[in-house]
Amino acid sequence: MNARNVIIDCDPGIDDALALMLALSSPELNVLGITIVCGNVSTDKGAKNALKILDWMDRTDIPVYLGETAPLYRDYVDAEDTHGTDGLGESGYTVPVGTAPQKNAVSFLAQSLQRAAAASKPISIIALGPLTNLARLIQTAPESLAGLDELVSMGGNYKSHGNCSPVAEYNYWCDPHGAQAVYEAFASHPLLSGKQIHMVGLDVTRRIVLTPNILEYMARLSPRMGELVARITRFYMDFHWKQEGIIGCVINDPLAVAYFLDRDLCHGFSAHTAVETEGICMGQTVVDTFDFWNKKKNCMVLTQTDPLRFMAFFLGRLCRREPEELIPLLRQIMVLMETDGKEAL
Ligand code: BDR
Ligand code: CA
Repeated sequence: MNARNVIIDCDPGIDDALALMLALSSPELNVLGITIVCGNVSTDKGAKNALKILDWMDRTDIPVYLGETAPLYRDYVDAEDTHGTDGLGESGYTVPVGTAPQKNAVSFLAQSLQRAAAASKPISIIALGPLTNLARLIQTAPESLAGLDELVSMGGNYKSHGNCSPVAEYNYWCDPHGAQAVYEAFASHPLLSGKQIHMVGLDVTRRIVLTPNILEYMARLSPRMGELVARITRFYMDFHWKQEGIIGCVINDPLAVAYFLDRDLCHGFSAHTAVETEGICMGQTVVDTFDFWNKKKNCMVLTQTDPLRFMAFFLGRLCRREPEELIPLLRQIMVLMETDGKEAL
């Protein structure tokens, strides 16, 4: 199999952890490195968490790089209220002995992309946190963009309400200038002509809810995975109960990885998109559906997803089962909507 080269830029984070577990269980991906950005937790804690996840998945051969420790301009606001002070739901896992992150995620990104461009083997980036590392890459080594294949970013929202303010999603709200710099580069940089950001935002991720029933099913399919996932998501479920009144938790980041692997998982439309950087709408994605600005359509805005297909894929990969085998029982225990899996209008 010709695995696709990817770098995962993330801020682990409970749902980042699940996304990394999915990526590392997917033979279609060759994960060249994991770059860490400050977001849910500090860069240092995020890197420790990435090392823990690599250990669980028996992949400590993959390097982890420390990235930016603050947003471009704004003061850093973490999300430890959502992910716990350790970023993994106070799960108490420890960093594997003898492992450590390396320095300078932005240099690693630049050098990897430059080599990829020279070898005509472009690399894709799956971004699961604030876009600060990528914004710095664009500022400091724009020529390396020649080596970029696709960018999938978990972030933003179109019609869905925000999760940090009425209109903003956390990753873009945490570093709105970073996000805007990346969106603007996809609108105007010549090396990115013909390319779009695939925006896996809250419109689609809010439909991906991990419930106690699904966890129970997971534990029966793979006791080890079930135990691991239950241990890191307990805190996240409690947060969702307090904050949103739901029994379960929205797992945003794994959908970005799953969509990278299976394009039928999400559908949407292309539009020019910008990110507001100031004021009460800070972090909001402004999607120009009516082409008022007549600017390049720099974004594939994903608005429709198929939660059943996702969950079968996710559980199938983590528990080493064929997704089709899992559909009948998942259909019984998931709450589905008539529009699920339909193309966006
Ligand atoms: C995003 O913010 C973080 O809390 C999650 O890890 C996810 O990437 C959802 O808004
Ligand atoms: Ca994240």
